[in-house]
Amino acid sequence: MNRLTIPRPDDWHLHLRDGDMLASVVVDTAAHFGRAIIMPNLVPPVITSVDALAYRSRILAALPAGSEFQPLMTLYLTETTVPDDVVAAAASGLISAVKLYPAGATTNSDSGVRDFDKVTPVLEAMAENGVPLCVHGEVTDPDIDIFDREAVFLEKVLDPLRQRIRGLRVVLEHVTTCDGLDYVRQGGDDIAATITTHHLFINRNHILAGGIRPHNFCLPVAKREVHRLALVAAATSDEAAFFLGTDSAPHVDAAKQSGCGCAGIYTAPNTMSCLAALFEGEGALDKLEGFVSRHGPAFYRLPVNAETITLIKRDTPIEFPDKCETPDGPVTIFDCGQPLYWEVETS
Ligand code: DOR
Ligand code: ZN
Repeated sequence: MNRLTIPRPDDWHLHLRDGDMLASVVVDTAAHFGRAIIMPNLVPPVITSVDALAYRSRILAALPAGSEFQPLMTLYLTETTVPDDVVAAAASGLISAVKLYPAGATTNSDSGVRDFDKVTPVLEAMAENGVPLCVHGEVTDPDIDIFDREAVFLEKVLDPLRQRIRGLRVVLEHVTTCDGLDYVRQGGDDIAATITTHHLFINRNHILAGGIRPHNFCLPVAKREVHRLALVAAATSDEAAFFLGTDSAPHVDAAKQSGCGCAGIYTAPNTMSCLAALFEGEGALDKLEGFVSRHGPAFYRLPVNAETITLIKRDTPIEFPDKCETPDGPVTIFDCGQPLYWEVETS
């Protein structure tokens, strides 16, 4: 098989940033994807519906002429988020979800949640109105080893929260562990998980063995190989609870190649080629459509995209650039460690 036509995929977790960076990176996602859930961790964050409306306009203005890409906006949950603002923004279609960052968990998460009791009213309103909560699932306690932070979060934070607020619809974002996969599988219809492209390819050796590789550093940090293999099995299983959220997160090289480098991997340009290679390697090319085009809309209660894209397998490897050039500086594009032959056909 050397051609695969699928409904246009969506990206259920994406960082587009703002300003010059936004204009430089949005084209890469809009080239292949129909919609994307847009992360709100700007500086300052996208907290209110007014912020989301303005950010949405800036994204639409940055799109290439004729693009039909739809940004699906989110609000950044803070301890002072107003329930009525969230419910009204969701009812009007302005937002598709609310994002929970435990304060201090990752890039620009300082305005996130410290005291979960303070956000109970807004979470209850979301549960009543079916508004999904996208969760960065890591504890921030400095005493907890960084490789254990997802598993501890599930037990100490997410499960008690879901027991308390029945019916809250949750997306466990960028799941990285067997623990997370098991938790989602046992959680019923109200919980799903996104899986990134990079976590399907790298384990912690790819960050640390043979020299430190800042371009493979992201949060949650990649774990042991056993977890990567479990993620590959979940992504290629056709289980409806698992779908693509790239977490494509551009940072300029100067910010990554530093004494304290930023977390984030830029995968938007080659994600579809990487995934086609991975699914083909697993003998699961027929499952790619579910993972990238069908399971996400089903959870978010949206139609599958009507248009299609075609992936073509070339005889020789595709030459991807190493960098995306931006006015702020170059951004390194994810290197999945193998030649890529599958290319999205451009009409
Ligand atoms: O690696 C990451 N980068 N993880 C996150 O949670 C945030 C993101 C970013 O904004 O750069
Ligand atoms: Zn993210």
